[in-house]
Amino acid sequence: MNTTEETLREQVRERYAQAANAASTGGCGCNEDGGCCGNVACDGTEDAFGEGLYDAEQRGKLPDAALLASLGCGNPTAVAELREGEVVLDLGSGGGIDVILSAKRVGPTGVAYGLDMTDEMLALARRNAQEASVTNVHFLKGVIEQIPLPADSIDVVISNCVINLSVDKPSVLAELARVVKPGGRLGISDVVAEDRLGVDERAERGSYVGCIAGALSRSEYVDGLKAAGFADISVEFTHEVADGMHGAIVKAVKPV
Ligand SMILES: C[S@@+](CC[C@H](N)C(=O)[O-])C[C@H]1O[C@@H](n2cnc3c(N)ncnc32)[C@H](O)[C@@H]1O
Repeated sequence: MNTTEETLREQVRERYAQAANAASTGGCGCNEDGGCCGNVACDGTEDAFGEGLYDAEQRGKLPDAALLASLGCGNPTAVAELREGEVVLDLGSGGGIDVILSAKRVGPTGVAYGLDMTDEMLALARRNAQEASVTNVHFLKGVIEQIPLPADSIDVVISNCVINLSVDKPSVLAELARVVKPGGRLGISDVVAEDRLGVDERAERGSYVGCIAGALSRSEYVDGLKAAGFADISVEFTHEVADGMHGAIVKAVKPV
């Protein structure tokens, strides 16, 4: 990594450490000055990002602090079609919301891993999982560019508004191809730009730590997943989060 990439990653880590601390004390997951994913509103009025993307039944299964720390741009557990006994990995698991929901879905014979680089988020996620009484969860410290799990060990990778924050997206996609079992799949929510927007135009629409400037375009996502070896790739826009930028569902399968 060069110095610029290291600085960016450190900014992301600091920003989400602050968000975890705020959520831990019952505050809004993001400061009033915004600047974290989607500038999630503290009064619950923002529904392009955060807990508003989960239905009432799912919210009922979650501790308040997990909901407060919800900083995603979709609901990957709703699209990943998780089955009993599966092994799930959530990249950038934050306060643990999608790991807890996945753990409940795969049941006691399955496992849900959460991977995050921010100590404060990991501590919050572990407390939330305990409060939600789920035991088939493991929160791992590490970066999504170097996943600390063996090859071919995961049935489904989910992620919620994190890949746009990576400073090395080709490494993330290559790591996904390594850890997913043959026949395994991806069900990812992320911010994705329309192909008409260049890198500078994306940066004009929002900050890097705010999950906008670092977003891939639809073609970049498809080409990157193809290059990593995935098949059956789709990138579906679900809701606009800025002019030409969308919350999107990204799906793909690792060929057998
Ligand atoms: C926008 S928040 C989303 C959290 C969670 N997925 C959710 O939906 O609430 C981004 C999370 O990804 C983590 N993160 C960002 N870049 C990362 C990286 N390169 N490796 C590991 N974790 C990362 C941050 O620490 C933060 O917890």
